[in-house]
Amino acid sequence: MMREIVFSTNNVHKLAEMQAIVGDSFRIRSLADIGCHEDIPETADTLEGNALMKARYVKKHYGYDCFADDTGLEVNALGGAPGVRSARYAPGEGHDAEANTRLLLLNLEGVEDRTARFRTVIALILDGKEYTVDGIVNGVITREKAGVGGFGYDPVFCPDGFDVTFAEMDSDSKNAVSHRGNATRNLIKLLSSI
Ligand code: IMP
Repeated sequence: MMREIVFSTNNVHKLAEMQAIVGDSFRIRSLADIGCHEDIPETADTLEGNALMKARYVKKHYGYDCFADDTGLEVNALGGAPGVRSARYAPGEGHDAEANTRLLLLNLEGVEDRTARFRTVIALILDGKEYTVDGIVNGVITREKAGVGGFGYDPVFCPDGFDVTFAEMDSDSKNAVSHRGNATRNLIKLLSSI
């Protein structure tokens, strides 16, 4: 029987990416699948802290073993910003990817050093133990948006070794090099070792 694990998210993009990467080794269940419809707090000041917070919430309130991720875009010329605040970079309520991307390009206007990385941390709670793994992709922030695929900062992030943005790549090509892809492959390695 296929093993099942809860992924502490309702982001359909992430669920689809994650299921594609793990293939048929696990069936991934979403928060909606377990009847969790509330916003889970993520108020820590590190990616590790937020990932653990989201995983612990599901374990505590719903009883499921699960994993949760948190991702940040770390731009060198901005001292690592937006980092843990990537979803809420532009002022105001809501997670507005358009506004976040616009603000990022504005803050990098005239800046030569465009190097950046995405970093994903995944926290896993399994059989009463907590684990974390991470995954990184290095790249540069482009000068303007390109492409319509993906989500978030994808239209302005060009991974090292490519001359297109994540938003111009198909999902298999993105997953093969991305932060979440690398973190997920580390998660799979971990799951098969415990
Ligand atoms: P989260 O922790 O995965 O929700 O990510 C926080 C924020 O980082 C998201 O709201 C997006 O703006 C951004 N982000 C995360 N993953 C990606 C990605 O694969 N591409 C582009 N932006 C991303």
